[in-house]
Amino acid sequence: SPSDPDLVARARAAKERLGEKVFILGHHYQRDEVIQFADVTGDSFKLARDAAARPQAEYIVFCGVHFMAESADILTSDDQKVVLPDLAAGCSMADMATAEQVAECWDVLTDAGIAEQVVPVSYMNSSADIKAFTGKHGGTICTSSNAKRALDWAFEQGQKVLFLPDQHLGRNTAVRDLGMSLDDCVVYNPHKPGGGLTVEQLRAAKMILWRGHCSVHGRFSLDSVNDVRARIPGVQVLVHPECKHEVVAAADQVGSTEYIIKALDAAPAGSTWAIGTELNLVRRLANAHPDKEIVFLDRTVCFCSTMNRIDLPHLVWTLESLADGALVNRIQVDPETESFAKLALERMLALP
Ligand code: 13P
Ligand code: SF4
Repeated sequence: SPSDPDLVARARAAKERLGEKVFILGHHYQRDEVIQFADVTGDSFKLARDAAARPQAEYIVFCGVHFMAESADILTSDDQKVVLPDLAAGCSMADMATAEQVAECWDVLTDAGIAEQVVPVSYMNSSADIKAFTGKHGGTICTSSNAKRALDWAFEQGQKVLFLPDQHLGRNTAVRDLGMSLDDCVVYNPHKPGGGLTVEQLRAAKMILWRGHCSVHGRFSLDSVNDVRARIPGVQVLVHPECKHEVVAAADQVGSTEYIIKALDAAPAGSTWAIGTELNLVRRLANAHPDKEIVFLDRTVCFCSTMNRIDLPHLVWTLESLADGALVNRIQVDPETESFAKLALERMLALP
């Protein structure tokens, strides 16, 4: 939708007043009206690195969701302030693993006598508390673009992985990229005693997957893939690894948002694609490639509602406040959590 010209002018003016003091990061799932003001766009991995590479900016305005702003705070210096334009922009997947639940899970693994064999690998889409737990127990963070490398590393450190909080990314990576079987994976349900698993199941498993999922990608189904193939002969199906295993198994290609963008850039004119990821990105890609036919994998799936909370009015309010000297919506991780979370994030950044 076209942005309100008055708001566009106000955002531009406030950004100009701030000059070098502000650096705006935009995740690929953000609205166009917000993306137009981003100094850099990226997937969550690229944005974490870009935030860390901007020591001169006093304010990092993170147009994305809460866990991304936390990660940026962890990776930037203490005098840099990370700001999230709407504090209600969370992530339902990150909320599916709380610190208490994960501590309880670790007790279950300890009681089963396997904790010392387990290396935690946590998806970037998790709270700073979960990242700190991961760092404290010798594990690493991963994103959808380096999950294979993270799992390879983890299996050099131990015999089992506890993968948090996205069961789909964990399962898809283990099966597709590491050649494991579905039987090597079990799902730990934090709402059931003992995770709903027997001690024998825990001891036999290689991958202990947390029972979390993305509320957007989790809605694509095998029917979505079959329907689009029936509707558009020759279509290539490209999906994000947060989709269910059966969707990923039926797709032609799988990759992170950054991968999807590059694949479409490289695709020949006249090719036809059905994309299984968030709608803002798919629409932007369709507009950017008028020579290719790019459709949304399933029209019943929609935007990520929390990503969409960051809109132009919130961005204008944020930039004008900062330009007026009011530090609003700062995201600040406490020092103890930060030090362990940083350990886990740095292990990720050091992956080969
Ligand atoms: P990436 O940006 O790492 O592909 O992750 C997608 C996502 O769901 C972010 O919230
Ligand atoms: Fe969370 Fe999914 Fe939205 Fe990403 S797309 S922020 S994983 S709910």
